[in-house]
Amino acid sequence: MDWRCDTVLEGMPDASLPVVLTESPRVVVTGCAGFIGSHLCEALLALGCEVTGIDCVTDYYDTSLKRENLATFCDHPRMTFLERDINDVDAVELLAGARAVFHLAAQAGVRASWGGQFGDYLDRNVQATQRLLEACKDPSVAEGLVRFVYSSSSSIYGDRTDLPVSEAALPQPFSPYGVTKLAAEHLCVLYGANFGVPTSSLRYFTVYGPRQRPDMAFRKFLEAALDGKPWLVYGDGSQTRDFTFVADAVRANLLAVGAPHPWAVYNVGGGACITLTEALEMMRDYLGEEAPDLVPTIDYQNRVEGDVRDTWADPSHIHDELGYKAAVPFAEGLRREVAWVVARRRARG
Ligand SMILES: NC(=O)c1ccc[n+]([C@@H]2O[C@H](COP(=O)([O-])OP(=O)(O)OC[C@H]3O[C@@H](n4cnc5c(N)ncnc54)[C@H](O)[C@@H]3O)[C@@H](O)[C@H]2O)c1
Repeated sequence: MDWRCDTVLEGMPDASLPVVLTESPRVVVTGCAGFIGSHLCEALLALGCEVTGIDCVTDYYDTSLKRENLATFCDHPRMTFLERDINDVDAVELLAGARAVFHLAAQAGVRASWGGQFGDYLDRNVQATQRLLEACKDPSVAEGLVRFVYSSSSSIYGDRTDLPVSEAALPQPFSPYGVTKLAAEHLCVLYGANFGVPTSSLRYFTVYGPRQRPDMAFRKFLEAALDGKPWLVYGDGSQTRDFTFVADAVRANLLAVGAPHPWAVYNVGGGACITLTEALEMMRDYLGEEAPDLVPTIDYQNRVEGDVRDTWADPSHIHDELGYKAAVPFAEGLRREVAWVVARRRARG
């Protein structure tokens, strides 16, 4: 069983899509082998786009998972995949003629961003973004480019109490990862303001769903349960998150191409604020339906440096400007992730 890209497009009338995406344009997706990027490629191919995807398949997590993601769309006749590092390619050549660039490539992960790996965060999050934005100034790119959509993060907000948080709040990242995501977002805004590069930055709030990264909480809990291991919860479980289903994150990317402002910043949330304990109770129920023998226990651990306590997006700006509203309720999205993880494991014996 696999997740189908038309889930993203379902409930999204053609009229709400930016016109350029209905004209079979050439588009570029960076980070196309990753969790969100692979879903986005499928949606763009389903729309009729010519997609050039670039991903250097970093080993931050098991590369075979990225190969699995790629396998679902890489052979499509309108897909060109470049297994290259953004920092090593001629970025002007990569972007020339593209109508939209979706920049998802990044070094993800809050916890790993402390210490010796910080150089990877600078190279992959800041330097790579700067190279792409510089290329956008070149006439061969600038001429046709309608929008550069940057995948930012709710981690730029930091640990806050003024929730739900709006885009007008002062960013105060709480982890080195958040600092690099914010630096790249600032680059997008200032290349827009100084050179007219049309950018939209999307601050995703915890994205989940099929193909979720194995370092993210739900995927870790599900894989642990299937291995008969306990659930390691950092903190007491009362921390809250605004969880965003991956199809909604993809849809926000499509809509952001039509943003009315030249350098816009938007929250992308799932529409509800859930405690981790609530999420785990639901996960236990869904797992029980799929695999009745599994009854995971919870092992509480100390909170980890860089993890914020609560997140919750004020959704009004993206709703008012782009017509985005999360379409997949949390219960439904979580059920889909549970079913996908269980089916994938069964298929592998
Ligand atoms: N998943 C979430 O909950 C979440 C939340 C907020 C923001 N984001 C952002 O969304 C984007 C996608 O996240 P994801 O969860 O799909 O991550 P992911 O790690 O699955 O995908 C990122 C991909 O980028 C590739 N990459 C990294 N550096 C590269 C480079 N220099 N050149 C080419 N490829 C490179 C990696 O190999 C990887 O496949 C990232 O920018 C991330 O910061 C994700």
